Amino acid sequence: MTQVADSPGHALQAAFDATIAHEQRVEPRDWMPDGYRRTLVRQIAQHAHSEIIGMQPEGNWLTRAPSLRRKSILMAKVQDEAGHGLYLYSAAETLGADRNDLTEKLISSAQKYSSIFNYPTLTYADVGTIGWLVDGAAICNQVPLCRSSYGPYARAMVRVCKEESFHQRQGYELLMTMMAGTDEQRAMVQESVDRFWWPSLMMFGPPDDESPNSAQSMAWGIKRHSNDELRQRFVDMSVPQAKALGVTLPDPDLVWNAERQAHDFGEPDWSEFMQVVKGNGPCSAQRLARRRQAHEDGAWVREAATAFARTQQAASRG
Ligand code: 3HC
Repeated sequence: MTQVADSPGHALQAAFDATIAHEQRVEPRDWMPDGYRRTLVRQIAQHAHSEIIGMQPEGNWLTRAPSLRRKSILMAKVQDEAGHGLYLYSAAETLGADRNDLTEKLISSAQKYSSIFNYPTLTYADVGTIGWLVDGAAICNQVPLCRSSYGPYARAMVRVCKEESFHQRQGYELLMTMMAGTDEQRAMVQESVDRFWWPSLMMFGPPDDESPNSAQSMAWGIKRHSNDELRQRFVDMSVPQAKALGVTLPDPDLVWNAERQAHDFGEPDWSEFMQVVKGNGPCSAQRLARRRQAHEDGAWVREAATAFARTQQAASRG
């Protein structure tokens, strides 16, 4: 057995295991198991895809925002999401992933993006509800990722989470304003919350006992909490916020459990979740078609930038 213990591979694995066990960071130049690398590329790429696709639902209201102030806030938020996507694609590239390849995988549905972005934004209240609930769920999910074992991912999350806080606050303030408005505006907010509450719970992924990746991701320190733990945290955070807003959450089973010191709540429709994840969401086809069109429309920019870079390299070689 000592033979194996002395092999370079064993020493590398032991060093990796010690890094994880001591809650230290794995960096791009460090040796890492292939499975660890693959899991990170999968999660980070899908996280990045979610940020980019997530620009579409809210971008839908940019030209129809009710005031210059609301338009500039929404513009800033949508631009932030683009930046989060680029940040995360850069983190994936530190693992050897190729950005063009990741984009092709998104467009061909070989890789996923968050189910939540396959729902339509039917009214202006949705802009506020997405900020409050969707970015709120993202905060619950992303704050623990600031402690992810992979250095570039964890560091990217620090800046992303700061901006998500602004996203959530602007959404909640928008809804507060509408709730102080007319009966029609209050009804618009409640209808929006009714449509987005359950899809927001689905953002955290399937139940733990149906999550094939969680156990290993948590053992590697990529994920710090399970899907159900973060879902529970989000529900407990949202209930008092809904009360302060004056809306009801569309779950008859939602009730405070004093014994658990947490809210009991109903079961999301996991068959709907699986259909949306499979690409059969209300807006799935539209979202991918628009991303594909944007990629095609941008081909000339990529070609020009590549040609310019080549001339610069030729010039520097003299
Ligand atoms: N939408 C689409 N696919 C989902 C999903 C969802 N809400 N939840 C889970 N899945 C997929 C997983 O990707 C996995 O499929 P794969 O193996 O082909 O990748 C499968 O369902 C099983 O799920 P698991 O729980 O086993 O998968 P994970 O361990 O990867 O957990 C996750 C899923 C919790 C989403 C995790 O990947 C994660 O924490 N990702 C980082 C955060 C993220 O991507 N958030 C997405 C929203 S980004 C956002 O909200 C931006 C904000 O600005 C609005």
